[in-house]
Amino acid sequence: MEKTHKIALVTGGSRGLGRNSAIALSKKGFDVIVTYHSRKDEAELVVKEIEANGQKAAALQLDASDIATFEHFAVLLADVLKEKWHTEHFDVLINNAGFGVHAPLVDTTEEQFDSLVNVHLKGVFFLTQKLISRISDHGRIINVSTGLTRFALEGYGAYAAMKGAIEVLTRYMAKEWGRRGIRVNAIAPGAIATDFQGGAVRDNQGINDFIGSQTALGRVGEADDIGGVVASLCTDEMGWVNAQRIEASGGMFL
Ligand SMILES: NC(=O)c1ccc[n+]([C@@H]2O[C@H](COP(=O)([O-])OP(=O)(O)OC[C@H]3O[C@@H](n4cnc5c(N)ncnc54)[C@H](OP(=O)(O)O)[C@@H]3O)[C@@H](O)[C@H]2O)c1
Repeated sequence: MEKTHKIALVTGGSRGLGRNSAIALSKKGFDVIVTYHSRKDEAELVVKEIEANGQKAAALQLDASDIATFEHFAVLLADVLKEKWHTEHFDVLINNAGFGVHAPLVDTTEEQFDSLVNVHLKGVFFLTQKLISRISDHGRIINVSTGLTRFALEGYGAYAAMKGAIEVLTRYMAKEWGRRGIRVNAIAPGAIATDFQGGAVRDNQGINDFIGSQTALGRVGEADDIGGVVASLCTDEMGWVNAQRIEASGGMFL
């Protein structure tokens, strides 16, 4: 097992893909700070699981959609880095926190649109801006996008547009921070059975069957299909992969 003792920060690490990524990173020897929005209890369980894997971990509260709180978050992060790791820097940022809104284009409200912009685009932009000086040279950033930027499913127009923006932003981050050796990639998961969208992919048999029928590997994705991809992208073996959109969908809508 690779032992790096590098520190990763995973936003939305309390559940779903963020949780799975945090645990997969710990199995590759990363220490991990997870953020949660409302589920402190779940975040603390993730911390325990990471510690059981022999790595250090911490959990911090973050509203990834409220940029006014990012200064305070940066102070809390600095404190935990100093207290627990005796450092000012961390190595890996996984911009994962978020939620979906399903609404046809004609019915999408400004409020829904703004909530998606805030968590998926504005939040990622300004959180990364706020934290970039704390990310070590030769660090890594992974922005979580979606398969929906390549294929279109009705009702996901606003959500997918934000994620498309994140893929463009990924290339610009890679361009501007490459001089510090920081690699930036986007991972685009297909439909994954998590709590996302009220657990629709997991709990709605019709949706589950439809996605499975449109996927080369014949089923929907599980969180376990994603965490390992995220963690692998953070290893030195993947060091020459930069500014890319990597889809992990089992081959959806080929
Ligand atoms: N599941 C899919 O099919 C799928 C496919 C492609 C991409 N994605 C993307 O993958 C990411 C994770 O989705 P998921 O499936 O893991 O969803 P999930 O199971 O619903 O988990 C969402 C996570 O994000 C956190 N979160 C939600 N709103 C937040 C906010 N305003 N500020 C900070 N944290 C917030 C939650 O924190 P609490 O637990 O504290 O509430 C939780 O940790 C999202 O960016 C999503 O768009 C998902």
